[in-house]
Amino acid sequence: MDEPINEDQVVDLQFQGTHAVVTGASSGIGRSIAIDLSRRGVKRIVIHYRHNVAGAQQTAESCRELGTEPILLSADLADLEAAESFADRCYHDLGAIHSWINNAGADVLTGELSELDFSAKLQHLMQVDVIGTIYLARQVAERMTQQTFAKPPSMTFIGWDQSASGMEGDAGQMFGSVKAAVTAFALSLAQTLAPQVRVNVVAPGWIQTSWGQAASAYWDGRARNQSLMNRWGTPEDVARAIAFVSDPENSFFSGQVVQVNGGWNRNYIHR
Ligand SMILES: NC(=O)c1ccc[n+]([C@@H]2O[C@H](COP(=O)([O-])OP(=O)(O)OC[C@H]3O[C@@H](n4cnc5c(N)ncnc54)[C@H](OP(=O)(O)O)[C@@H]3O)[C@@H](O)[C@H]2O)c1
Repeated sequence: MDEPINEDQVVDLQFQGTHAVVTGASSGIGRSIAIDLSRRGVKRIVIHYRHNVAGAQQTAESCRELGTEPILLSADLADLEAAESFADRCYHDLGAIHSWINNAGADVLTGELSELDFSAKLQHLMQVDVIGTIYLARQVAERMTQQTFAKPPSMTFIGWDQSASGMEGDAGQMFGSVKAAVTAFALSLAQTLAPQVRVNVVAPGWIQTSWGQAASAYWDGRARNQSLMNRWGTPEDVARAIAFVSDPENSFFSGQVVQVNGGWNRNYIHR
């Protein structure tokens, strides 16, 4: 019988000695990405956050325990000057960057922003997830193309599995528009930067972060049943896909959208 895999022992040699940046790494999916990349041997990593310094420090501690040197940097991506300074600081502190993950995204479903009306939520999401992310990515892209590596560096964006097919209601209209815009930008960036830089999108389905942990019985059941795997996705599921697309060995992998949803259940009937 096969031995169970001990994740702590997984070391991906391809990441050894490399540098990475993960935006929005103070909680949820971003934290898991930073920890996963550390486990795979990334040497130095920027843990980006906006307000949650305690969360960012917790991520940094986990990375340090895995032998990776964390660098904490804060920036509000709604502020384009702050985004530009953040890109400058990353290059100043790391020098070369092999893997850049644009994960940060506004949370309008829990916390104070959930009180806003539809238009204000949409505007905030557009400012952070679309305009701020695109602006930051363009700053980084310019520098990435000037780097010389044996294998092309990688930039990854976070989309959403339902942005192409659509989902009913306010959340579908908001996140569908926002993540479709990010995906369209990323695919054009892949065309623009090839072959010097690889650009991909990882599109999660229902991942159990803060909103999912408090989801109603209806949404809990719906999230599970819409996946062929009959469960919520975890931040670690997304992190593994990010590691795959970022892996320098996967140098023939660019301009792709990888869904992480356990397979869409076409038999699910939504009532
Ligand atoms: N969870 C899902 O089911 C799901 C599905 C599809 C896509 N996604 C996407 O996956 C990404 C991560 O989601 P998550 O569930 O892990 O969310 P999360 O736990 O709320 O993490 C969001 C991260 O983004 C940062 N952030 C928020 N607003 C920001 C701003 N204005 N400027 C800079 N950083 C900001 C937060 O920083 P601070 O907390 O430090 O302020 C935090 O580190 C997001 O892009 C989200 O849209 C999630």
